[in-house]
Amino acid sequence: MKIAIDGPAGAGKSTVAQLVAKQLGFTYIDTGAMYRALTWLAIEQQVSPEDEQALLKLLDASAISLEQQSHGQLVLIGNREVTNEIRRPEVTRHVSAVAKHAKIREQMVQQQRQLAEQQHVVMDGRDIGTRVLPDAEIKVFLTASIEERAKRRFKEWVEKGYQPDLEQLKLEIAQRDKMDSERKASPLKCADDAVVLDTSGLSIEQAVEKIVDLYRKQTDSP
Ligand code: DC
Repeated sequence: MKIAIDGPAGAGKSTVAQLVAKQLGFTYIDTGAMYRALTWLAIEQQVSPEDEQALLKLLDASAISLEQQSHGQLVLIGNREVTNEIRRPEVTRHVSAVAKHAKIREQMVQQQRQLAEQQHVVMDGRDIGTRVLPDAEIKVFLTASIEERAKRRFKEWVEKGYQPDLEQLKLEIAQRDKMDSERKASPLKCADDAVVLDTSGLSIEQAVEKIVDLYRKQTDSP
């Protein structure tokens, strides 16, 4: 069973997807973490996010993997754990530029499909329903107003000890949406057969419940 959850930055995908996975006993796979890991490595090795060939070389040499633990997903580059580092603002600022390259995406998609073949998954990203798992049994496009998404990111970053500027966050989110939606290689797009879920007025629990309901209806389970 495959559940695909796509949507723009800050719509609540990872929180909701993780809880759905937990409730159903599925594995949660955060595909954005793979693009973030490559971006983190590029920054560390001073490779330009625009240089597709150099990024490909990095990717080939680096073995990015996701490891499931009871308390969540660990992100590894070789043996090095980078789970927290990849959430840094400088990674967030550059990740859309890295993720726009078609050849990088091809390799990431291949790895993501392999992960979904081995287990029941809830996978979140931008192109899961349209490209990575077009045959997913359940597809959800999670969205929310830009104000709401910026407020959520603001809160998240304050909790992490940063001092963000709300207007700046709004601008950055809008810019990332634009880059993710307008790139040529599998852009952020709602799949024709996806259920659109606007989380603006919903609590996390309500969003989770709606997706679990879709699963129950699909599988006729109580
Ligand atoms: O979900 P996130 O913010 O961690 O994603 C980071 C970036 O990676 C996002 O700007 C777009 C890109 N991404 C993508 O292009 N395709 C995916 N399947 C997942 C993420």
